[in-house]
Amino acid sequence: MPGPAVLFVCLGNICRSPLAEAAFREAAKKAGLDVTADSAGTGDWHVGTPPDRRAQAEALRHGIDISSYRARQVTPEDFRRFTHVLALDAKNLADLRRVAPADASAEVSLLLDLVPGMAGQSVADPYFGDEAGFAETWREVSLGAEALVRKLG
Ligand code: 4NP
Repeated sequence: MPGPAVLFVCLGNICRSPLAEAAFREAAKKAGLDVTADSAGTGDWHVGTPPDRRAQAEALRHGIDISSYRARQVTPEDFRRFTHVLALDAKNLADLRRVAPADASAEVSLLLDLVPGMAGQSVADPYFGDEAGFAETWREVSLGAEALVRKLG
Protein backbone atom coordinates (compact mmCIF):
# COMPACT_ATOMS: atom_id res chain seq x y z
CA MET A 1 0.00 0.00 0.00
CA PRO A 2 1.63 3.29 -1.03
CA GLY A 3 1.81 6.05 1.58
CA PRO A 4 -0.29 9.20 1.69
CA ALA A 5 -0.07 11.53 -1.30
CA VAL A 6 -1.10 15.09 -0.57
CA LEU A 7 -1.79 17.92 -2.99
CA PHE A 8 -2.07 21.48 -1.65
CA VAL A 9 -4.09 23.88 -3.79
CA CYS A 10 -4.38 27.68 -3.81
CA LEU A 11 -5.17 30.16 -6.57
CA GLY A 12 -1.80 30.90 -8.21
CA ASN A 13 0.44 28.10 -6.83
CA ILE A 14 3.17 30.66 -6.17
CA CYS A 15 2.49 31.82 -2.59
CA ARG A 16 0.39 29.74 -0.22
CA SER A 17 0.34 26.20 -1.62
CA PRO A 18 4.11 26.00 -2.22
CA LEU A 19 4.64 27.10 1.41
CA ALA A 20 2.10 24.49 2.57
CA GLU A 21 3.91 21.82 0.53
CA ALA A 22 7.27 22.84 2.02
CA ALA A 23 5.93 22.93 5.59
CA PHE A 24 4.31 19.52 5.12
CA ARG A 25 7.45 17.92 3.64
CA GLU A 26 9.44 19.27 6.58
CA ALA A 27 6.93 18.15 9.22
CA ALA A 28 6.67 14.68 7.64
CA LYS A 29 10.45 14.34 7.50
CA LYS A 30 10.75 15.28 11.18
CA ALA A 31 8.08 12.70 12.04
CA GLY A 32 9.75 10.00 9.90
CA LEU A 33 6.60 9.76 7.79
CA ASP A 34 7.02 8.72 4.16
CA VAL A 35 4.78 10.93 2.02
CA THR A 36 4.29 12.21 -1.49
CA ALA A 37 3.57 15.94 -1.69
CA ASP A 38 2.88 18.44 -4.42
CA SER A 39 1.02 21.70 -4.93
CA ALA A 40 -1.06 23.26 -7.70
CA GLY A 41 -3.22 26.27 -8.46
CA THR A 42 -6.84 26.52 -9.54
CA GLY A 43 -5.71 29.28 -11.93
CA ASP A 44 -3.22 29.08 -14.79
CA TRP A 45 -1.60 32.55 -14.78
CA HIS A 46 1.70 31.45 -13.25
CA VAL A 47 2.13 27.99 -14.78
CA GLY A 48 5.82 27.08 -15.09
CA THR A 49 7.11 29.84 -12.83
CA PRO A 50 8.93 29.48 -9.49
CA PRO A 51 7.26 30.60 -6.25
CA ASP A 52 6.90 34.33 -5.55
CA ARG A 53 10.26 35.67 -4.27
CA ARG A 54 8.64 36.61 -0.94
CA ALA A 55 7.44 33.00 -0.52
CA GLN A 56 10.93 31.74 -1.38
CA ALA A 57 12.42 34.11 1.21
CA GLU A 58 9.95 32.99 3.88
CA ALA A 59 10.74 29.32 3.24
CA LEU A 60 14.47 30.07 3.42
CA ARG A 61 13.94 31.72 6.82
CA HIS A 62 12.85 28.24 7.92
CA GLY A 63 15.79 26.54 6.21
CA ILE A 64 13.87 25.31 3.18
CA ASP A 65 14.78 26.02 -0.45
CA ILE A 66 11.68 26.03 -2.67
CA SER A 67 13.34 27.70 -5.68
CA SER A 68 13.01 24.52 -7.76
CA TYR A 69 9.21 24.36 -7.35
CA ARG A 70 7.24 25.23 -10.51
CA ALA A 71 3.61 26.29 -10.63
CA ARG A 72 1.04 24.10 -12.34
CA GLN A 73 -2.72 24.01 -12.61
CA VAL A 74 -4.79 21.34 -10.87
CA THR A 75 -6.18 18.60 -13.18
CA PRO A 76 -9.03 16.06 -12.84
CA GLU A 77 -6.38 13.30 -12.70
CA ASP A 78 -5.06 14.82 -9.46
CA PHE A 79 -8.22 13.61 -7.69
CA ARG A 80 -7.27 10.01 -8.51
CA ARG A 81 -3.49 10.25 -8.03
CA PHE A 82 -3.58 11.93 -4.62
CA THR A 83 -5.16 10.55 -1.45
CA HIS A 84 -5.76 14.05 -0.07
CA VAL A 85 -6.41 17.34 -1.89
CA LEU A 86 -6.28 20.26 0.52
CA ALA A 87 -7.59 23.71 -0.33
CA LEU A 88 -5.94 26.76 1.20
CA ASP A 89 -9.12 28.88 1.16
CA ALA A 90 -12.87 28.51 0.79
CA LYS A 91 -12.91 29.75 -2.81
CA ASN A 92 -10.21 27.25 -3.76
CA LEU A 93 -12.34 24.51 -2.16
CA ALA A 94 -15.43 25.53 -4.14
CA ASP A 95 -13.39 25.64 -7.36
CA LEU A 96 -11.87 22.21 -6.62
CA ARG A 97 -15.31 20.68 -6.16
CA ARG A 98 -16.14 21.87 -9.68
CA VAL A 99 -12.97 20.33 -11.19
CA ALA A 100 -13.25 16.99 -9.34
CA PRO A 101 -14.28 14.10 -11.62
CA ALA A 102 -17.16 11.79 -10.67
CA ASP A 103 -14.70 8.98 -9.85
CA ALA A 104 -12.48 11.10 -7.59
CA SER A 105 -10.93 9.00 -4.83
CA ALA A 106 -9.10 11.78 -2.98
CA GLU A 107 -10.42 13.25 0.24
CA VAL A 108 -11.01 16.94 -0.56
CA SER A 109 -11.06 19.41 2.32
CA LEU A 110 -9.94 22.75 3.71
CA LEU A 111 -6.42 22.68 5.19
CA LEU A 112 -7.31 24.58 8.37
CA ASP A 113 -10.24 22.24 9.08
CA LEU A 114 -7.55 19.95 10.51
CA VAL A 115 -6.41 22.52 13.06
CA PRO A 116 -8.34 22.58 16.35
CA GLY A 117 -10.04 25.96 16.71
CA MET A 118 -9.47 26.95 13.07
CA ALA A 119 -12.08 24.84 11.27
CA GLY A 120 -13.67 26.65 8.36
CA GLN A 121 -10.94 29.29 8.22
CA SER A 122 -9.07 30.23 5.07
CA VAL A 123 -5.36 30.94 4.72
CA ALA A 124 -5.47 34.56 3.54
CA ASP A 125 -3.92 35.39 0.17
CA PRO A 126 -0.65 37.28 0.87
CA TYR A 127 0.03 38.14 -2.80
CA PHE A 128 -1.19 41.74 -2.75
CA GLY A 129 0.12 42.47 0.75
CA ASP A 130 3.54 42.99 2.31
CA GLU A 131 6.29 40.67 3.62
CA ALA A 132 4.57 40.32 6.99
CA GLY A 133 1.71 38.55 5.28
CA PHE A 134 4.05 35.76 4.25
CA ALA A 135 5.14 35.19 7.86
CA GLU A 136 1.46 34.81 8.79
CA THR A 137 0.96 32.44 5.84
CA TRP A 138 3.88 30.34 7.08
CA ARG A 139 2.44 30.22 10.60
CA GLU A 140 -0.95 29.04 9.34
CA VAL A 141 0.28 26.48 6.81
CA SER A 142 2.67 25.07 9.41
CA LEU A 143 -0.23 24.52 11.82
CA GLY A 144 -2.10 22.76 9.03
CA ALA A 145 0.93 20.70 7.98
CA GLU A 146 1.63 19.56 11.54
CA ALA A 147 -2.01 18.63 12.10
CA LEU A 148 -1.97 16.68 8.83
CA VAL A 149 1.16 14.76 9.85
CA ARG A 150 -0.53 13.87 13.15
CA LYS A 151 -3.61 12.67 11.27
CA LEU A 152 -1.61 10.58 8.79
CA GLY A 153 1.10 9.36 11.19
P1 4NP B 1 -1.47 32.15 -4.19
O1 4NP B 1 -1.40 33.73 -4.37
O2 4NP B 1 -2.85 31.72 -4.62
O3 4NP B 1 -1.27 31.96 -2.73
O4 4NP B 1 -0.36 31.56 -5.03
C1 4NP B 1 -1.72 34.40 -5.56
C2 4NP B 1 -0.80 34.51 -6.55
C3 4NP B 1 -1.11 35.18 -7.72
C4 4NP B 1 -2.35 35.76 -7.87
C5 4NP B 1 -3.30 35.63 -6.86
C6 4NP B 1 -2.97 34.93 -5.71
N1 4NP B 1 -2.66 36.48 -9.03
O5 4NP B 1 -3.75 37.07 -9.09
O6 4NP B 1 -1.85 36.52 -9.96
